[in-house]
Amino acid sequence: MEEVKAAVGSLGLNLLVNNAGIMEKCSTQTFGVPLGNVEPEMFRNVLETNTIAPLMLIKALLPQLKVAAATGESRAIVVNISSIMASMGTSLNRHGIYAYRSSKTALNMVTKILAEDPSTKGLLFVAIHPGWVRTDMGSSEALLTPEDSVSQMLPVIVSINEKQNGVLLNYDGSVLPW
Ligand SMILES: NC(=O)c1ccc[n+]([C@@H]2O[C@H](COP(=O)([O-])OP(=O)(O)OC[C@H]3O[C@@H](n4cnc5c(N)ncnc54)[C@H](OP(=O)(O)O)[C@@H]3O)[C@@H](O)[C@H]2O)c1
Repeated sequence: MEEVKAAVGSLGLNLLVNNAGIMEKCSTQTFGVPLGNVEPEMFRNVLETNTIAPLMLIKALLPQLKVAAATGESRAIVVNISSIMASMGTSLNRHGIYAYRSSKTALNMVTKILAEDPSTKGLLFVAIHPGWVRTDMGSSEALLTPEDSVSQMLPVIVSINEKQNGVLLNYDGSVLPW
């Protein structure tokens, strides 16, 4: 955290993308852990990385984000990389991913609270699902390459406006249900 703050220094920060994330794993299924194997320590670890760390990073970098938002025509946007698996209004038949899905739902709520918090006035916050992407987490069966995902998210991020403050977006810019 301190290293990141030092690297940004007193310059403004226009874009913060909280991308790092983890999913609980086991040897018996491709994604997540079945109910019988869910343990408190594993759940806490996933929450720490996927929900608490992004919020703490945003808190630490708030001064630099505010500098950017106050400078001329520039804007300051925080993108929290979330997941469609966290959307309670989306029907997905994905069982046994208790910690990951819950942690990303909590990250979505963190995004919404930040967007409504008077102390972050002038900044924009969105949660974005990057699609099902061929990475270590997404597996080789995923539909999108990282390049496909990022090239579709970039124009969405660049065009984020006040109306989208605090929403959950798909990688193509469409709004996902909470
Ligand atoms: N792939 C998908 O289909 C998919 C779908 C929906 C959402 N997402 C989200 O997209 C984001 C990126 O996921 P991915 O698919 O690229 O997963 P990944 O292949 O497993 O890579 C995860 C990345 O997060 C970093 N990371 C994990 N824990 C960290 C920590 N404590 N401190 C610093 N860095 C940490 C890892 O760094 P190291 O390599 O150094 O450990 C790695 O670069 C995640 O938030 C994930 O939930 C992915």
